[in-house]
Amino acid sequence: MDSPRITIFDTTLRDGEQSPGCSMNVQEKVRLARQLDRLGVDVIEAGFPIASDGDFAAVQAVAAAVPRPVIAALARAARHDIERASQALGAAVRPRIHVFLATSDIHLQHKLRISRQQCVDQAAESVRLARTFCDDVEFSPEDATRTEPEFLFQVLEAVIQAGATTLNIPDTVGYTVPAEFGELNRNIRERVRGVEGVTISTHCHNDLGLAVANSLVGVANGARQVECTINGIGERAGNASLEEIVMSLRVRADRYPYQTSVASEELYPTSQLLEEITGIPVQPNKAIIGRNAFAHEAGIHQDGMLKNRLTYEIMTPQSVGVPDSKLVLGKHSGRHALSLRCEQLGYRFERRELDEIYRRFVVLADQIKTVHDHHLLELVREAYGESHRIPPRRVESEQAAAVAAGAEELPRKPFPVGAPSDFSVIGLNTVPASEHNLEQEDYLWGV
Ligand code: KIV
Ligand code: ZN
Repeated sequence: MDSPRITIFDTTLRDGEQSPGCSMNVQEKVRLARQLDRLGVDVIEAGFPIASDGDFAAVQAVAAAVPRPVIAALARAARHDIERASQALGAAVRPRIHVFLATSDIHLQHKLRISRQQCVDQAAESVRLARTFCDDVEFSPEDATRTEPEFLFQVLEAVIQAGATTLNIPDTVGYTVPAEFGELNRNIRERVRGVEGVTISTHCHNDLGLAVANSLVGVANGARQVECTINGIGERAGNASLEEIVMSLRVRADRYPYQTSVASEELYPTSQLLEEITGIPVQPNKAIIGRNAFAHEAGIHQDGMLKNRLTYEIMTPQSVGVPDSKLVLGKHSGRHALSLRCEQLGYRFERRELDEIYRRFVVLADQIKTVHDHHLLELVREAYGESHRIPPRRVESEQAAAVAAGAEELPRKPFPVGAPSDFSVIGLNTVPASEHNLEQEDYLWGV
């Protein structure tokens, strides 16, 4: 039997855009929406049309430019909002109106100043209105995770009766924890009347760093849609990161047997495009798409990677669209990586000679944070002059030779020019695995 399919609802253009410095103009939103389409997301939330004329125009433009995915527009539970959302979605092949209304007592008392009964009535009425424009209506009880569960269920039952087709459960302030959020999703699935005919969705914020964990546990307890953003951008600490959710489901299919329609090789290009458009850099250690996600500096790790990548990588960089892993030379690096970089720069040494180069390298690396190629060349020349020169490794010519020799599989290209390379970086694709043996002595020497 096929594993259940999870709908990936991307809200980079709406909730993601709400993070400081991330707002996008119409052209930028259309450009990113086209890439989200290539990525294969199921739903693109294109904006909040009532918020501004620009956002209205952006939803219109995305709806016209990208016909395959469902295009969603956000609306408060108010007539004018819903009408604007519906107008903006005019050109969409598969439109969705996403209505939200807060349900927690904190929000009802201090923000909306309405009673619980008014909340139920307003939610149901708004969904009923949205259904007059569109067959696909999502409802979000804002601050659901701080709403008294019995009241939350009452609101959900009312909006199901009014015609909602997706029930989104937002952890608006990133407050919930996995066991609690799992229980909430399970209770909604088991206790809300009519829920079997609608899709339950998660929408988790990252204030405690738990957005992805909470989303996964929501899925394990019956949610079949996950709302998320590229690079995890979004209000405050952000939303659940799309790339982390997709790759968690893929890499740990043994624990999470669910499918998505995402083409994972498009994750890195999409992340890069968003970075380019917003100018907000991704943190280097960001899972999946950060520049260090496939970089190895520690000697023990480099030694393992040079022998077999499975030692320190749980997915291939290519599977997420990163061209290759890289070994970075720093003070934790070992002799194997150093020797390899020297060869790539055109110098070959015997073991004992390399010990000397390594000794000098460690002293230098202790003083400066980043060892660049020019530092390494200087160090090599100081120690041995030009006596150990060999022709530098030319990957292109190796490929040509391989083709000439009738090789079926070409040596892959090294990390491309333009990839992050603050350091002396070794592209692993240029490394013949047979250069190393598996003996313990070699392991100790290598680091
Ligand atoms: O975080 C939230 O509650 C939202 C809703 C509008 C879905 O973004
Ligand atoms: Zn949100």
